[in-house]
Amino acid sequence: MSTQFATPPPGAADHWWQHGVVYQIYPLSFADSNGDGQGDLEGIRSRLDHLTWLGVDAVWISPFYPSPMKDFGYDVSDYCDVDPRFGTLAEFDTLLGDLQARGLRVILDLIPNHTSDQHPWFRESVSSIKNPKRDWYIWRDPAPGGGPPSNWASEFGGSAWQLDQASGQYYYHAFLKEQPDLNWRNPEVRRAMHDVLRFWLDRGVDGFRVDAIHHLFKDEELRDNPQNPDFVPGMSPRRQLIRRFTTDLPEVHDAVREMRALLASYDNRVLIGEAWLPFDRLMAYYGDNLDCFHLPFNFHLIGARWEAPALRSMIAEYEALLPRGAWPNWVLGNHDRSRLASRVGDAQARVAAVLLCTLRGTPTLYYGDELGMRDVPIPPEAVQDPYEKNVPGLGLGRDPARTPMQWSAAPHAGFSSARPWLPIAADYAHCNVAIQKEDPRSMLTLYRSLLALRHARPTLSLGDYEAIDPAAHVLGYYRAHAGRRDAVLLNLSGSPQKLALPSALAGAHVLLSTHPERAGRPVGAELLADEAVVLAASE
Ligand code: NOJ
Repeated sequence: MSTQFATPPPGAADHWWQHGVVYQIYPLSFADSNGDGQGDLEGIRSRLDHLTWLGVDAVWISPFYPSPMKDFGYDVSDYCDVDPRFGTLAEFDTLLGDLQARGLRVILDLIPNHTSDQHPWFRESVSSIKNPKRDWYIWRDPAPGGGPPSNWASEFGGSAWQLDQASGQYYYHAFLKEQPDLNWRNPEVRRAMHDVLRFWLDRGVDGFRVDAIHHLFKDEELRDNPQNPDFVPGMSPRRQLIRRFTTDLPEVHDAVREMRALLASYDNRVLIGEAWLPFDRLMAYYGDNLDCFHLPFNFHLIGARWEAPALRSMIAEYEALLPRGAWPNWVLGNHDRSRLASRVGDAQARVAAVLLCTLRGTPTLYYGDELGMRDVPIPPEAVQDPYEKNVPGLGLGRDPARTPMQWSAAPHAGFSSARPWLPIAADYAHCNVAIQKEDPRSMLTLYRSLLALRHARPTLSLGDYEAIDPAAHVLGYYRAHAGRRDAVLLNLSGSPQKLALPSALAGAHVLLSTHPERAGRPVGAELLADEAVVLAASE
């Protein structure tokens, strides 16, 4: 089959990653083809119809590389292969070909900050102080009086320094002790990671989502991180410190620039960065000359206060701070945070879907959110996530948002023929793809309609953003492109809201509503409770 990528909307000298929609697949939980209770690449391949039916343009597949699975694939022991639990490299090539033949782009996870402690590089590094790979990781002598070299804390609890009894030195790990950090000041490390990029780019992948990029460099003098005056019990223990000397060091931008330059020698690839930072610092990840990430992930909707004024000012701040020519993006959920429907409730999750698909910038949609899947309670004996195991009881565990995709009312939700690695949601018999596909009022149908509308209307995929203020609890904006304007109104409250609309919207027709019976009718003077609408403004 020849590759048929979506045609960019007219008037757009644009890239696929600008007008397209990204869908995140967490491979352990998407579809299991071989009955071991864990998802795999062939499982993904068996569900391609869902992706094309839904209307996404690209998939980002979370890690499937060989891994001891201490952090479920984010502890990589070989960057250039496939873990047998997920399949084989040949199966990956087939999957890549099939996805691309359907016009879907494929983004892989790149994890440059750390390897598994079982990676051959670390095995060599730990073997002797004199080993040539010793300097590939961050080794330091104990503090003068003994103990860890600094107060730096692991993201997953405890010290970030692990003592190696044999040599008496400590190595640094921003995450688990089984995830030692690479030393990015060593040029051989950089070269080795560039080879990894080339390995996958040469196979034809369309880009990378780069993990934990703000962790890449740490202070060479090992200065202690300052205490966080805003820390209160109940927060993750690592927040006791402000990560001044362990994250977001200026050298990171050069390292990203090098990756981007490498990508530029291939056609049409994308580089997306994972950095949880305030907007002003996030913007630096586009690069001074837009030569770093195409898209530094914008996670601010995930932690946002779900109220119109808070969202309005957050969007305004983001839009105002974006460097000239930089392309925005929005993320509503991922494998590290509580599910959208659990954060904002079922009705507002529909409003949020409209927001994600109509804001200016590339949307990233997390698998299962298209069904409104909720966090699944995980009994203590079923906990898998090392974060929950290390820091229990604070609600930080990520398993609840990683449960198997709910395909149908069949046993194990059609995900697997065996008991899955994480429990299935109790509501799967009602909340699943097969049922929602047939229901015009379902979340799945809403997402499909939204994506179709976004593809059909360059206003929504490419248009400028202009805020409007039709009511206190209503977030509103125009999207304008090539002389046309659409408007989006989102009622962030659970009660009906009277609208004070600009004249261009008086009598405007509803192109799409969270309440499908309203479609095709004039918007009128009121939004229903929890209603979001897209309107065609008069010229
Ligand atoms: C961010 C990933 O999204 C998360 O799942 C992982 O635990 C850490 N980085 C460490 O790789």
